[in-house]
Amino acid sequence: MSQNKKLFYVTTPIYYPSAQLHIGHAYTTTLADILNRYKKLDGYETFFLTGSDEHGEKIEKKAKEAGVTPFEFTTMIVNNFKLLWNKLGIEYSKFIRTTDQAHEQGVQKIFSKLYHKGDIYLGEYEGLYCVSCEEFLTESQLDKITQQCLVCGNKPKKVKEETYFFKVSKYSQFLINYYNSHPTFIEPEARKNEMLNNFILPGLTDLSVTRTTFSWGIKTLENNKHIIYVWIDALSNYLTALGYLSEDETLFNKFWNNTNVEILQLLGKEIARFHTIYWPSMLESLGLRQPNKLLSHGWILFKDTKMSKSIGNVVDPLYLIYQYGRDVLRFYLGYEIPTDHDGKFSYEMFLESYNTHLVNNIGNLVSRVSNMISKYFNGELLSQGTLKNDLIDSCLLAIKNYQIVMNNYQIAKALSIVLELCNKANKYIEESKPWELEKNQETTQLHTTLATLAYVIIVSAFLLQPVLIDHAQKIADYFNIDLQNLTFSTILSQEMIYNKRIEKKANLFERLNVEQELKRIEAELNQ
Ligand code: MSP
Repeated sequence: MSQNKKLFYVTTPIYYPSAQLHIGHAYTTTLADILNRYKKLDGYETFFLTGSDEHGEKIEKKAKEAGVTPFEFTTMIVNNFKLLWNKLGIEYSKFIRTTDQAHEQGVQKIFSKLYHKGDIYLGEYEGLYCVSCEEFLTESQLDKITQQCLVCGNKPKKVKEETYFFKVSKYSQFLINYYNSHPTFIEPEARKNEMLNNFILPGLTDLSVTRTTFSWGIKTLENNKHIIYVWIDALSNYLTALGYLSEDETLFNKFWNNTNVEILQLLGKEIARFHTIYWPSMLESLGLRQPNKLLSHGWILFKDTKMSKSIGNVVDPLYLIYQYGRDVLRFYLGYEIPTDHDGKFSYEMFLESYNTHLVNNIGNLVSRVSNMISKYFNGELLSQGTLKNDLIDSCLLAIKNYQIVMNNYQIAKALSIVLELCNKANKYIEESKPWELEKNQETTQLHTTLATLAYVIIVSAFLLQPVLIDHAQKIADYFNIDLQNLTFSTILSQEMIYNKRIEKKANLFERLNVEQELKRIEAELNQ
């Protein structure tokens, strides 16, 4: 019965359709997709939300420059977002646009609810506003000498206007208590401490949540001079996407208003403040539960600086996908960029990582083992008693440990467990020397050795599925096995490897000449 199914709701930030997305954005969405696929593999019913954050002054300005309406402008870019997600194999359940009518109505109702609760009040705001980051800046967010925004480098402008405020100051104690009683609510821990020390403990100031100086936004029902300023609009998407306060709250009741659902929200560190302070306060004010975890990852740096359109150092994920395939990019993002600190991207690192792990380790293992089974056993292993040896023990332990770390959303660690297992299998070939067993006609021992290796490969393919969405099945194809038929419990039985046609096939991953590739990339990108 579906009511008994375990439930998982995962969200990414909704991206600004002001420019094309780069691999920094692809990173968050890929992590969400990997975790979502893992949860499905583990028997969960899931809901995976991503989308676009379309209102605000910056987009209004850009559309004007392009000579189109803001909606026409964002639609063009949103279509490119969807194309990218499609090429990257992102299986979202819903793509929300903040211009969707249902979202706009939902946000107005949320605003009214907060207002009637007494948590939103009219006042006047004077401050430095960064148009590019869509936020009012505090002293600590400004360069001391140039007075430029530390995140984007633009100069904020002085703004004074009538505005509604959200009474976040009222929630300071709630936040402190909640953080204390739920020690893993915000990860990594350093981010939680940063929020406490930089913002909460020095005293929270109420947040300006409406504007009157531009019109591209959602009007408040209370006062039509005011449009709801980006963050209340944007954060509400996580609820409106599920139909919160609409006529049909089925999804909301299933995936939010239910303490059994595991809710994971992914976000980059630059928007941690909004997600760890304002968002939990809004939820508390609305009388709603909190997510289980706010996972705030670091940045992908390109040569030590944050990738950004204005610096001109962005890496286009579509280029990498067209050149090397989506699995190679998904693997790099999942394995090489840990979530608890900043990670780096360079084309060289990308190519080296591919050669080391996908070609030399996994690809090599699959090709050697399938070749030997074709050659020595005419492509078929016959059923034998349960295999028991050190490599099998390592394999069973790997399955367990993989689940433990994936349940903690540690994708890089999970991948290192699988890579380590494949490394062990490659070593086992060197040590057991199947070619000598064949020469000495030790057929039983040879059969056991190759069956052990075949089993390890199928387990690895099974565990790699959330990341290598094309190649995991390609690996299993060598052994004529359909991964869709396997689960975390059936994978424990070794029977599936026997009495199948095991074939030698073209290489899984072709080795790349890094120097040559780098030259080609440079020539192409400079065109
Ligand atoms: N629209 C807001 C989010 C609202 S969520 C309710 C926004 N959008 S954004 O287009 O600027 O995207 C920000 C997200 O992109 C970050 O949170 C992060 O997930 C991702 N990244 C953008 N650049 C990045 C890197 N260089 N590295 C890693 N992730 C980065 O903020």
